Amino acid sequence: MLKHLLGCVGEYKRDSILAPVFVTCEVVMEVVIPLLMADLLDYGIDRGDMGVILRLGTVLILCAVVSLAFGVLSGHFAARASAGYARNLRRKMYYAVQDFSFSNIDRFSSASLVTRLTTDVTNVQHAYQMIIRVAVRSPVMFLFSLFMAFSINPDLSLVFLGMIPFLGLGLFLIISRAYPIFHRVFKIYDELNRVVQENLKGIRVVKSFVREDHEKEKFNSVSESLFKNFSRAEKILAFNAPLMQFSIYCCILLLSWFGARMIVTSAMTTGELVSLISYASQILMSMMILSMVFVMITISRASAERIVEILEEESDIKNPDCPVLEVANGDVSFQNVNFSYTKDPDKLCLKDVNLEVKSGETVGIIGGTGSSKTSLVQLIPRLYDVTEGAVLVGGVDVRDYDLAVLRDQVAVVLQKNVLFSGTIKENLRWGNKDASDEEIVRACRLAQADEFIRAFPEGYDTYIEQGGSNVSGGQKQRLCIARALLKKPKILILDDSTSAVDTKTEALIRKAFREEIPDTTKFIIAQRITSVMDADKIVVMEGGRIDAVGTHEELLKTNTIYQEVYHSQAKGVDRHEVA
Ligand SMILES: Nc1ncnc2c1ncn2[C@@H]1O[C@H](COP(=O)(O)OP(=O)(O)OP(=O)(O)O)[C@@H](O)[C@H]1O
Ligand SMILES: [Mg+2]
Repeated sequence: MLKHLLGCVGEYKRDSILAPVFVTCEVVMEVVIPLLMADLLDYGIDRGDMGVILRLGTVLILCAVVSLAFGVLSGHFAARASAGYARNLRRKMYYAVQDFSFSNIDRFSSASLVTRLTTDVTNVQHAYQMIIRVAVRSPVMFLFSLFMAFSINPDLSLVFLGMIPFLGLGLFLIISRAYPIFHRVFKIYDELNRVVQENLKGIRVVKSFVREDHEKEKFNSVSESLFKNFSRAEKILAFNAPLMQFSIYCCILLLSWFGARMIVTSAMTTGELVSLISYASQILMSMMILSMVFVMITISRASAERIVEILEEESDIKNPDCPVLEVANGDVSFQNVNFSYTKDPDKLCLKDVNLEVKSGETVGIIGGTGSSKTSLVQLIPRLYDVTEGAVLVGGVDVRDYDLAVLRDQVAVVLQKNVLFSGTIKENLRWGNKDASDEEIVRACRLAQADEFIRAFPEGYDTYIEQGGSNVSGGQKQRLCIARALLKKPKILILDDSTSAVDTKTEALIRKAFREEIPDTTKFIIAQRITSVMDADKIVVMEGGRIDAVGTHEELLKTNTIYQEVYHSQAKGVDRHEVA
């Protein structure tokens, strides 16, 4: 874990070293000041020697200024080091997430990824800043002050040495009670993030189902529990201040009591007593701060662990060592394929799949929901790897291709497709960043999108809002198809991509595909028989298996599932026509 975390310090090593160095210098200055004060009192004020007062006073002011400068410098370097560290950490995580395969992403929810990239990184950033600054400052201050106190008067120092175990015990009790609550609080933060993100992502669904009250209740309950836990933890921590005050005043009382006697017997000077009192407060204060630092660091351990989980997650789809860099043609072959999302051979989602498709063929895939149509086609661009068997593209196992080469040649319009914020043109150029305007228009004509895009006042420069919320479902699907077409792939997969497009437009898209891109292998998953009936081959899926493969006429004669679907839909059409 530490290796991953320290690896991100990178170019901020210098700042991370300078911060504690300057902190130490600052502490040395602060420790010297009470000593000078003692001299000022004893040799200057007591004796009424103005020369000494002025000289020591100037040195004191100089010390204070130098200490301030060291403090500012250490703060500067600590802030830079921790902010830079957080940046490196976040970047490394973000890059790791970009390399995740679909199954890696399945393992972490997107809400959790967002929390890890934001809140968790901020926690670790604060902890890091504490470690290089406060966690150095307090022990150094403790040791230096103790040393100075003993060098002034070892007997009197024993008085407040006795106070240390008392304060230590008190702090321990407070921390041991508060820590578990803080730990819980951070878990509740996760929950709060999840609730808020889920709500905001699905706000339209929430509104259309009039679930606002339910959502408010859900939010309130998390929020309430956060409030309760926080106030409990803070209430316990509130004991810190009185405990501290009590210890310091006890010290002052005892020191004054014994010190006064010593002063009377000339065993000690007034100045020495004053500086002893300063050291006592510095020692006790640094103990308290150290205990708080300890709590904060242990709390952020949970965050650090969650960050390391991402950094350690190995993408299970990797480029092979000597990848094949060219896809010869659009042939696709499934050979005895078994597939499970969990890699568990007992929970297979695709079983014994064998399928041969020649370059340029159009393959229709039909089957009930959950019959693994999506799972089947996701294996072709290697979005997931087969559990057993092999998928071949252009006669080569997909696992032997360079991933980028394979995915450039296999364009998928996913069932859950998204557009990104940006103009239509920018979105389309995802398919091919160097596409000329003519190529873009051609792809849009093929996908029957050109017409509606031109109808927008700003045409191809129309701005698409996040997630494509300002275009209709059917328009979005057509834009996604155009985007995939721009890749000029050898294999094109449409996963239910025309479900929101009217039948007439869909027929035009199919016609354009047939005429304009005859060499591209096309996989078309659909619910409507009309979407696939003119395909060269229709695959009927049922419960993760291929039930039958054939043309529309063949299946209509031989396959009961196909017949059922056809008749149920034909009836619908009839009724529709009658109406
Ligand atoms: N990411 C995933 N992780 C685990 N299981 C999954 C995942 N995606 C799908 N499944 C499961 O795999 C099975 C097949 O799902 P798949 O999405 O392939 O069906 P489908 O035929 O495409 O259905 P639909 O017509 O509704 O799109 C389902 O039982 C589903 O629960
Ligand atoms: Mg599907």
